[in-house]
Amino acid sequence: MSDRTPIEELRKKRAEGQLGGGEQRIQAQHERGKLTARERLELLLDKGSFRETDAFVTHRTQDFGLDQQKYLGDSVVTGWGTIDGRLVYVFSQDFTVFGGSLGEVHAQKIVKIMDMALKNGAPVIGLNDSGGARIQEGVVSLGGYADIFLRNTLASGVVPQISVVMGPCAGGAVYSPAITDFIFMVKKSSYMFITGPEVVKTVTHEDVSFEDLGGAQVHADTSGLCHVAADSEAEALTMLRELFSYLPQNNMEDPPRRSTSDDPLRREEALDTIIPDDPSKPYDIKDVIRLVVDEGRFFEIHKDYAANIVCGFAHLDGRPVGIVANQPAVLAGALDIDSSKKAGRFVRFCDAFNFPIITFVDVPGFLPGVDQEHGGVISSGAKLLYAYCEATVPKLTVITRKAYGGAYDVMSSKHIRADFNAAWPGAEIAVMGPDGAVNIIFRKELAEADDPVKRKDELVAEYRQKFANPYIAAAHGYIDDVIEPSETRPRLINALEMLENKRDSNPPKKHGNIPL
Ligand code: HXC
Repeated sequence: MSDRTPIEELRKKRAEGQLGGGEQRIQAQHERGKLTARERLELLLDKGSFRETDAFVTHRTQDFGLDQQKYLGDSVVTGWGTIDGRLVYVFSQDFTVFGGSLGEVHAQKIVKIMDMALKNGAPVIGLNDSGGARIQEGVVSLGGYADIFLRNTLASGVVPQISVVMGPCAGGAVYSPAITDFIFMVKKSSYMFITGPEVVKTVTHEDVSFEDLGGAQVHADTSGLCHVAADSEAEALTMLRELFSYLPQNNMEDPPRRSTSDDPLRREEALDTIIPDDPSKPYDIKDVIRLVVDEGRFFEIHKDYAANIVCGFAHLDGRPVGIVANQPAVLAGALDIDSSKKAGRFVRFCDAFNFPIITFVDVPGFLPGVDQEHGGVISSGAKLLYAYCEATVPKLTVITRKAYGGAYDVMSSKHIRADFNAAWPGAEIAVMGPDGAVNIIFRKELAEADDPVKRKDELVAEYRQKFANPYIAAAHGYIDDVIEPSETRPRLINALEMLENKRDSNPPKKHGNIPL
């Protein structure tokens, strides 16, 4: 019998739980350049706000000598806390206990806080650092993963879910983060893959390092799995807090407004000259975005992936908005497989969580090529089209320069229920660019011309004069107004106010069938 008082006993247990797998393993974690599960939560949450759940849970496995190794709380720290005073549910896998591996009780702890998050309408943040399924628990750990995947899916579109990968995340374990809305990774210390380098080598004879197969950078710029790649764990958590400040608690709320000293009527004369005189010259659409939004603050998602489209969050007169913009500085802003997928998912997030969508359009069309066609650009482009069509949040569109072909329709056109469509006066809205159009419709005439080059120049000039302007679209009411670039900010803010009480819905159905 212990001669401690019950309160002393409680304190002793709590102190023991704080140590996870013990001092030595904590030291090993630090030596890997990684923080512990609890240190990460301290950085993520408001000071002193964390309330732990299931700190006394231990595993029930008898096999492989595991009955001799029990750790209070097992290999994950769970609970709730606040970020800037707002409730969030969290789990943080503890690599110092069985390598953060997931067994029966680890899964149960996560499932408990996910169920609470769904009932109480608050986001879930998962900090992942785990060797995967706890090998000693066998199929029970696979069941535990599936219990989590199911909840990730049911919570999708109800509460925001964010994953931070801060160590290994391999095999089927990757599917929980993959279902969540945003994945943050840490460069050089986190990796995600279905099968690791050794299995890859056996099966395909490819030699590849952990970092090159599934590190943060490769997922940030090549696979597109990672939305934000940070240089350090601390940076990842700081950026996550920043992203969180844009998000609503759940799908029944509007994203939180922020007070701003930026004048809603601010005209930005620099926008009047930002488009180069030569229509084939690029400019950086992010300069346009920064000049329009509050204080120039723009939180970009998927910065390094499919850079021919730009997605992110900003505020307009304190209202949070999602921004989608073609980037003429990359691939001339053409839409392709990756950019369609990237923007399609972002549009759906915005629609699910009540962000008005501001679309800046400067798109020469879809990217031509065998790779694109065979890689599925049709179904990928259809994803973005579907996402825009389906979205019922306020949709505001500004055509800054080109809006050609199918891409004109896709990029939040009036026809697919955009609410406010404006064009800058130099906008070119047509089926295709003047050069391509003249080659097709005047093929015969050009072949017979005495001076085909001169004749082509004349015809291109004629076509440009006739079609490559915003006034035909405006004459049809497809564009609500042609505006001066410098008045873009006040006009968008005014339109957002006008749309404050927008109500729109889709026909009742179980769910649509987006071309996945
Ligand atoms: C049980 C595990 C474990 C696991 C690690 N550990 N992974 N225990 N189940 N899956 C334990 C180790 O025994 C060790 O215990 C401690 O965690 C730290 O592991 P180390 O190997 O010393 O660390 P490190 O060298 O950094 O290597 C980390 C690692 C490696 C790369 C993650 O441990 C590893 O390869 N683990 C196995 C990964 C794996 O194959 N998992 C199953 C994948 S299948 P001690 O006591 O020494 O501290 C899967 C399917 C999910 O996950 C399906 C979902 C549908």
